This record gives sequence, C-alpha cells and structure tokens, in this order.
Amino acid sequence: MILPIVAYGMPVLKRKAEPVELNDELRRLIDDMFETMYRAEGVGLAAPQIDKSIRLFVIDPAPFARWEELSPEEREQLRNAKMAFINPQLVEESGEEWSFEEGCLSIPGINEKVKRPERITLRYTDVEGKEHEQTFEGLLARVIQHEYDHIEGILFTDRLSPLKRKLLAKKLEKISKGQVQVSYKMKFPKR
Ligand code: NI
Repeated sequence: MILPIVAYGMPVLKRKAEPVELNDELRRLIDDMFETMYRAEGVGLAAPQIDKSIRLFVIDPAPFARWEELSPEEREQLRNAKMAFINPQLVEESGEEWSFEEGCLSIPGINEKVKRPERITLRYTDVEGKEHEQTFEGLLARVIQHEYDHIEGILFTDRLSPLKRKLLAKKLEKISKGQVQVSYKMKFPKR
C-alpha cells in the first residue's frame, strides 16, 4: 500500500521517535514503506515521514545510484543495501567530514550540500529480529545518516548554515503550505 509522505512543517518530522516492537503489523508497515519509497523514487524513507513517530527507517540506494561514479567496493555495498533498520541506535560517527548534495521526499525541490562524517556505526534489529552492530561508509553511510536524523527529529535543512536556511525560508514555507508539485502523494500541515 502506498502511504502519503508528510511534508516539511508537519510536527511529526521534528519529534524524536519512540522505540517500536517487531511484529507482523510492523513487517507489513515495512513492506508499505518500501513500496512508498520506490514509487516516490527515494533512496530512503523514515517512519516519521509517513506520520509514525517510531524508530524505523528503510533504505535502498541501488535503483538511483550513479554506478559509473562508484568504486568497486561501493558498488558491492550498494548492491546488497535494501535494508530495514528497526530501533537503530547510534554507536558512533567517525572519519573526516565530507560534503554531499542531499534531498528529502518531505522537502521536494530542495537539494543542498550537507557535511557529515565518513562513517557511522549503528546498533539495530533487522526484519528477522536479528540484532546487528555494523559500520557503514561512503554513500551508504550518507543515506543512513540522513534517515537516522529523521527519527531524531532532524531534517537535512537543520544542518545547513543559518544563511543558507534564510535563503531557503520562502521555498520551505511554500512546501509547508502545499504550494508544490510532486509526482507522489503528500500530507501537508493543517492550517
Ligand atoms: Ni529525508
């Protein structure tokens, strides 16, 4: 089932999400989130973006990766990167910060460079209920860092400089008012 994606300005996007129990209902939700993400041509989707304040996100960077720009290691990593993260907890971020242009299905039409550390280590549960502690790097780390931010109530625009945010203020306000064209179903704040 395709779910509407909540737009910038909805309070759920600013809330720290709560832990969740893995059961059949959650597995169905995870399937719906993958379906919603693929339809919207996203590489990741966090539960707050479908109006659920729970610690869950899904990723699959493969369909939209620029394969020709990737190293063999990165290609191998991305090929097996359709993953769901249940109750992820940040263990650490490390390495040098690098800039990469990010976008977000909740903030259509805005793409900006964001600086983040190279690597992220997370503890999380997968759909089979298995627990992992795993370190990710490169593009995969980038997608995971962006989605992890969502369950902490942080948007990539929060990580931009005050000046950049000021320049984007009008555009962001338009999005929150529903004055935006997207090819997928969205949910906007009530006015
Ligand atoms: Ni996002």
